[in-house]
Amino acid sequence: MNMGNTEQHWGWPSKLLHWLTALLILIQIPLGIYADDLANSPLKLELFGWHKSVGILILMLAIMRLLWRMAGSIPNLPDASLLQRRLANLGHSLLYGLMLVLPLSGWLMSSAANRPINWFWLVELPALTGPNKALKEIAEEVHEVSVILLLVVLGVHIGAALWHHFKLRDSVLKRMWF
Ligand code: HEM
Ligand code: HEM
Repeated sequence: MNMGNTEQHWGWPSKLLHWLTALLILIQIPLGIYADDLANSPLKLELFGWHKSVGILILMLAIMRLLWRMAGSIPNLPDASLLQRRLANLGHSLLYGLMLVLPLSGWLMSSAANRPINWFWLVELPALTGPNKALKEIAEEVHEVSVILLLVVLGVHIGAALWHHFKLRDSVLKRMWF
C-alpha cells in the first residue's frame, strides 16, 4: 500500500484517518444525543466524559489529516460537470470545517460552563476561557447548529459515495477503501 496519495489513489494514511474519523463521528453523534437526553446522574457525567474525550480525539485527527493533505497531493475528482465537482469540494470543505468547529465549540462550551475536560481520564485540558454564561450559550448554539449541518452534509456525502459505487459504478468508493 502506498503512503502518499497519487492522481488515482489515496495513500494509507489518508484512508486510515478517513475511516477512523468516520467511525468515531458515527459513534459520537448518537452518544451526544443520548447523553444530552439523560437526567442528571453519574451515568450522564460518565457518558459526557467519553463524549468530550472522543470529540477532542476527532479534533486531533482532523488537524493531522489537514496537515497531511496540505503536505502532499490528492487524487483527481472523477470526470463530472464543473458544478458537480464544485459541490463535491464544497461538501468536503464543510466536513473538514465541521470536524474543527464541533470539537472547538464543545471545548469552549465546557470551559465557559466551568466544567473540566479530563481527556480519557489522563490529562486535564486547559480552559479556553473563564466562566462566562453568555459565551456558554453561544457555544452551545453553535454546537447544536453544527450537529444539524453535519447530519445533512454527511447524509449527502454517504449517499454520493453509494451512488458512485452502485449507480455510476466508478472507483470513487473503492479508491478510499483498503
Ligand atoms: C460511512 C460513511 C462514509 C463513506 C461511505 C465515505 C466515503 C468517502 C469516499 C469514497 C471519499 C473519497 C472521495 C474521493 O476520492 O474523491 C470520501 C472523502 C471524504 N470524506 Fe468520507 N465517507 C464516509 C464518512 C465520512 C465522515 C463521517 C466524514 C467526516 C465528517 C467524512 C469526511 C470526508 C472528507 C473530508 C473527504 C474528502 C477527503 C479529501 O478530499 O481530503 N467521511 N469519503
Ligand atoms: C466531532 C465532534 C463532536 C460531535 C459530532 C458532537 C456531537 C454532539 C451531539 C449530537 C450532541 C447532542 C445534542 C446537541 O447539542 O445537538 C452534543 C452535545 C454536547 N456536546 Fe458534543 N460533539 C462533538 C464534540 C464535543 C466536544 C469536544 C465537547 C467538549 C469538550 C462536546 C461537548 C458537548 C456538550 C457539553 C453537549 C451538551 C450540550 C447541551 O447541553 O445542549 N462535544 N454533541
